[in-house]
Amino acid sequence: IVAAFQPKLFKGRTVLVTAGPTFEAIDPVRGLTNRSSGKMGYAVARAAREAGARVVLVSGPTALPAPHGVQRVEVSSAQEMFDAVMTQVGAAQVFIATAAVADWRPAQVHAQKQKKREGEGAPTIALQANPDILAAVAALPQPPFCVGFAAESEKLAEHAAAKRVRKNVPLLVGNLGPDTFGRDDNRLELFDAAGHHPLGSGDKLVLARKLIEEIAARLERAGL
Ligand code: CTP
Ligand code: CA
Repeated sequence: IVAAFQPKLFKGRTVLVTAGPTFEAIDPVRGLTNRSSGKMGYAVARAAREAGARVVLVSGPTALPAPHGVQRVEVSSAQEMFDAVMTQVGAAQVFIATAAVADWRPAQVHAQKQKKREGEGAPTIALQANPDILAAVAALPQPPFCVGFAAESEKLAEHAAAKRVRKNVPLLVGNLGPDTFGRDDNRLELFDAAGHHPLGSGDKLVLARKLIEEIAARLERAGL
C-alpha cells in the first residue's frame, strides 16, 4: 500500500528515535566512532512520521537530510546523545534506539592536536564506558515502549535474545551485520518475550514501515 493511504496509526503520539553513529573525540582532529550510515534509523523516523506521529530524531553525524516533517536534534558524542534523549523522552510514548553508540570514549580529550614525536612509539589511549542510553530509558519509572536494535556479527538469535533481556525492553530488532552497513536493504528479525520471527528483508524504508505497523499493533494490544 502507498503510505499516504495507510491509516494514521500514530496520530497524536510522539516517537523518539536515535540514529547514526556517535563520535568520541581524542583531540580536535581525531576520534573514535562506530560504523553506521544512519539509513535504517532515518527510514524508521520517516515511517513513524508517515504514520502520523510527531517524530524527534536524535542523530549522530550522518550525510543524510532530515526526513520531511521530522524534528532533528544533531549530536556528536554518546554523552550528548544521552542528554538529548533524556531531554526529549518525557513527551514520547515510543522510543526506538537504532543508533550505533560508541561503547567507550577516551578517558581524557586533549585540547590540542597530539603530535608525533621522534623515537616515541604509538600512544596508548585509555577508554571509559559511555552511558547505555536504551537501558537508561527502559529503566525510567514510566518508560515509553522501548525498541532496541542489535547488529551482531555471529550467533544473532542467541546474542539478540540475551540483549533484549539484559536491556529490559519488550522488543528488539536483530540484523545480521556487517554486510548491511550503508546499504539500502536489510534483513531483520524481531525478538520479544515469546521468541523470535522474521520481519522480512529488502528495502530499509519498506522494513521500517513494517516495523512501525508492528509497534502500533503491540501498543494497541497492550492498551497503550
Ligand atoms: N545502545 C544505547 N546506548 C549505548 C549502547 C547501545 O542506546 N551506549 C542501544 C543501541 O542503540 C541499540 C541497542 O542498545 O538499540 C543495542 O546496542 P548494541 O551495541 O548491540 O548493544 P550493547 O549492549 O552495546 O552490546 P555489544 O556492543 O557488546 O554487543
Ligand atoms: Ca555496543
